[in-house]
Amino acid sequence: MNPIIVANWKMNPQTLKGAFELTKAVRKGVRSANANVVLCPPYVFIPQLLAAKNMEIGAQNCSWQEQGPLTGEVSPRQLKDLGCSYVILGHSERKKELGETLAMVQRKVAAALTAKLRVILCVESVAELRTLKKKVRSFKNVAVVYEPSFAISTQGGRRVAPRHIAAMVSRLKKVAGRNVPVLYGGSVDAKSMRDIMTKGNVQGALVGAASLKAKEFIALVKNAL
Ligand code: 13P
Repeated sequence: MNPIIVANWKMNPQTLKGAFELTKAVRKGVRSANANVVLCPPYVFIPQLLAAKNMEIGAQNCSWQEQGPLTGEVSPRQLKDLGCSYVILGHSERKKELGETLAMVQRKVAAALTAKLRVILCVESVAELRTLKKKVRSFKNVAVVYEPSFAISTQGGRRVAPRHIAAMVSRLKKVAGRNVPVLYGGSVDAKSMRDIMTKGNVQGALVGAASLKAKEFIALVKNAL
């Protein structure tokens, strides 16, 4: 299976020009790589970047509701209709900063899967995954990300030993299912990627800060192969 490398740009960059330039550079650099590279820009850039083609584009969030009165929200169907293929759900920053609960994440996962989006589902523990799994019938289009918040570059960036990652991967797979890809997130860069892939036994990575620097991100993708 090709590795899945997901770029979570978070609330960056600040201009459309910056988003175009980053996409263009990444597209050129990863063109021949045997990896599923997914760029997840802020909502506002998605239509323009999709129009530029040739990159898989995902969103960083979506509503749990299919349609209707929910000010400021974007439905999974709208994302699918634009041409998005993926959505990141359950990110710890949304839980911590915006009060997103596991009950909300459960509903979002169900709505996203109904809209035929692939879900990049972030969890910090096996218990969290167990709770989420209760309400989701099939994990067929889900990739689970083990992303402890203390490992995120802007939150301390503590390094997690690859053998610990491997142990978590095996515990998470027991809950999610053998065939569900498990990725790792938290300060992944070009240098750490190879060890995380090989010794951590993951199928890919969710990348924040390092995905905003084209050269670093391209090197990271190559080191995942
Ligand atoms: P960093 O790669 O900057 O630690 O961010 C990780 C993350 O939050 C990706 O979702």
